[in-house]
Amino acid sequence: MKAITQEEYGAPGDVLRLQEIEKPSIGDDEVLVRVQATGIHIGDWLVTSGVPYLIRLMGYGLRKPKTKVPGTEFAGSVEAVGRNVRQFQPGDEVFGFGTGGFAEYASVSQDALVLKPANVTFEQAAAVPVSGFTALQALRDQAKVQPGQKVLIIGASGGVGTYAVQIAKAFGAEVTGVCSTRNVDMVRSIGADHVIDYTKEDIAESGQRYDVILDMAGNRSISELRGALTREGTLVIVGGTGGRFLMGFGRTLRGVALSPFVGQNLRQFMSSTNKDDLVVLKELIEDEKVTPVVDRTFALEDTAEALSYVGQRHTRGKTVVTI
Ligand SMILES: NC(=O)c1ccc[n+]([C@@H]2O[C@H](COP(=O)([O-])OP(=O)(O)OC[C@H]3O[C@@H](n4cnc5c(N)ncnc54)[C@H](OP(=O)(O)O)[C@@H]3O)[C@@H](O)[C@H]2O)c1
Repeated sequence: MKAITQEEYGAPGDVLRLQEIEKPSIGDDEVLVRVQATGIHIGDWLVTSGVPYLIRLMGYGLRKPKTKVPGTEFAGSVEAVGRNVRQFQPGDEVFGFGTGGFAEYASVSQDALVLKPANVTFEQAAAVPVSGFTALQALRDQAKVQPGQKVLIIGASGGVGTYAVQIAKAFGAEVTGVCSTRNVDMVRSIGADHVIDYTKEDIAESGQRYDVILDMAGNRSISELRGALTREGTLVIVGGTGGRFLMGFGRTLRGVALSPFVGQNLRQFMSSTNKDDLVVLKELIEDEKVTPVVDRTFALEDTAEALSYVGQRHTRGKTVVTI
């Protein structure tokens, strides 16, 4: 089968190869998926490049990547099932998470897949898992968003942000999205009640205070973010920028260390992949509360170009490779 392989860390164009490799075999609890589309999130770019170095300490491989075929979120059709698999049968259309998505076939745990919502394409479904988990868990588990709360989403036009805007609205919040000029209309179209164009206006300029802030952009100081929060508001630090070693993690740690000494709740978290939340996301899509936003699609042989595009950090929604 055709697959994108990676033997070392580096710029996507330098280290990714299109190769013919063997189709993966499946274990008793696994499903062989004929991949139709694979989503890309910024974490895929980080793991390909091996920078920040913190990534390598997180289990992805110290000197070279442990996973030969990258690609962590995908949608496709079931080709074959292992002997213990009861929930799926050949021909089912599914989406989920795992490894080896930049390939014609991937072997995936049955616990990492659910049936694809019928009202979205393979490309849209592939764009859901990792960014959707992050937005859902940040709003529901970290910020515990309640109906009527004012929520500020910084980075509202990106992979996580486009889900966060829609999920916060589904939770009944009044949502303000922050993005650049070219994305203002799109962020409004996915449900934001207000949009701040960060190229023209500062987040604190209006004097508005928010009950919850999700910070994906990672380039504002903790004191600036606290200045836009209510006295007992919650800041969830989702992303960071800068530095080849920690990528802004110092700022995150300073925020978390300050939290016990102030009225506001300053939090950081790492999203997790799990089937229960995949079902929650599927239902939000089926109820038309969430519609995945797909920016550009690339062919499998152009995966390196797609990853480089995502690495520029100005994706509108998600970027997807079609296979
Ligand atoms: N903690 C976790 O578990 C977790 C999980 C997933 C992702 N993350 C992190 O979350 C961050 C966002 O991920 P993503 O996948 O959403 O990235 P992305 O798709 O690249 O989106 C980044 C967004 O940030 C916006 N942005 C850039 N500069 C900005 C500024 N100065 N003010 C406001 N917005 C700005 C961009 O909007 P414009 O194009 O309009 O400028 C873009 O839409 C990354 O740092 C990633 O590492 C963390």
